[in-house]
Amino acid sequence: MSTNKMWGGRFASGPAAIMREITPSIDFDKRLAGEDLAGSRAHCRMLATEGIISKDDGQAILGGLDTIEKEIAAGTFVFKRELEDIHLNIEARLAELIGPAAGRLHTARSRNDQVVTDFRLWVRAACIRAEEGLTVLQKALIAQAEQHLDTIMPGFTHMQVAQPVTFAHHLMAYVEMFGRDRGRFEDAKKRLNESPLGAAALAGTTFPIDRDATAKALGFTRPMRNSMDAISARDFALEYLAACTISAVHLSRLAGELVQWSTPAFGFVKLSDAFTTGSSIMPQKRNPDAAELIRGKTGRVLGDFVALATVVKGLVLTYGTDLQEDKERVFDAADTLEISLAAMAGMIADMTANPAKMLSAAEAGYPTATDLADWVVRVLKKPFREAHHIAGSIVKCAEDKGVTLDKLPLADMQAIDADITEEVFKVLSLESSVKARMSLGGTAPARVREQLAHWKAAFK
Ligand code: ARG
Repeated sequence: MSTNKMWGGRFASGPAAIMREITPSIDFDKRLAGEDLAGSRAHCRMLATEGIISKDDGQAILGGLDTIEKEIAAGTFVFKRELEDIHLNIEARLAELIGPAAGRLHTARSRNDQVVTDFRLWVRAACIRAEEGLTVLQKALIAQAEQHLDTIMPGFTHMQVAQPVTFAHHLMAYVEMFGRDRGRFEDAKKRLNESPLGAAALAGTTFPIDRDATAKALGFTRPMRNSMDAISARDFALEYLAACTISAVHLSRLAGELVQWSTPAFGFVKLSDAFTTGSSIMPQKRNPDAAELIRGKTGRVLGDFVALATVVKGLVLTYGTDLQEDKERVFDAADTLEISLAAMAGMIADMTANPAKMLSAAEAGYPTATDLADWVVRVLKKPFREAHHIAGSIVKCAEDKGVTLDKLPLADMQAIDADITEEVFKVLSLESSVKARMSLGGTAPARVREQLAHWKAAFK
């Protein structure tokens, strides 16, 4: 086996066969091709401008890179495992296309600053895609919420019926979560947007390069200040993975709700045929597969974060080939998050709520007991603890009689507290309970409408 033609100058023999298995990253880092071409173009233009390479060589290199881009787009570019990675594959092809001038492109550059430049560009684009996916999902939730400002459902704590809320209010809670998720990608994108290019192997270069120019050409806000940090840092990828993980956790919670809501026992929503599957044995089944898969994929994304954090934790400055492990984790998390966001948005847009089922589930749980206690405090001026006790006894009585609170005869309530009057019935219906929760952020339709207005303005 001969030595690697790109770096084998001082090697007498080739690598062990197993090295040809463990070393190559081309099978996955070919996804960095576009970023690698962009980085090389910026570097080449800078080298020519600074007179580090000739204008003619610069032109030849740029022409060759254009050809390579077309070959990759057409699917005719041959990726070779013996050339290890995307950087060496492109450089080797460039040499085939333009000859010796190709060898000048790597002046004042190392694969160490090259790979992390490509990777920052890739993660930056992934942040933008995540933000877009989250926005589409938020819009789907908002569209459903608008239909259900007056649809009453049980609000749960401890998975027990707690107080009535509206379906819109519940959905808008997720709009808030996904909005913060977008903010995390936005922040990650801002922080990562500095250029490592020109850090070279680790210590900088003896050539008079212009790092501001390459940073600007690639849309970075500035060159990174410390070349060793530039080579070694992967916190940008960790931050992206952390943001992915939190989004995946939020998706998982919503997915869990859909699984629950769509069982016949709940029947709160019907998922469309497009997002459910049948059972091979039980003809009546409509399985919420998409929701279950989204929930199931959460662990993968967290696993990607844990895997990369573990790679980075043991690494002294600056580069170690350990870092080659960074890309698959990020690609996997990005693919997983993006497909999950798209499936969730589709499922939400397509689902049909069943307000009657939600209402009867809310009625079953005496969710206006707090309203009753509040009324005893407000009107009868009793301390809340005593009012809580009175309301509890009334719930017990209603339970024994098998009626909802608003159907319990006044005489029964007065047997528990003689001061209670007819007026109490004003607060015992679910509708009145919901309408009365007018505190900021509360479930009253007027308040939820404010949330909707906020988000609609934000998306203008
Ligand atoms: N394939 C390598 C990676 O993914 C590129 C950088 C290699 N640099 C080196 N000195 N071996 O990190």
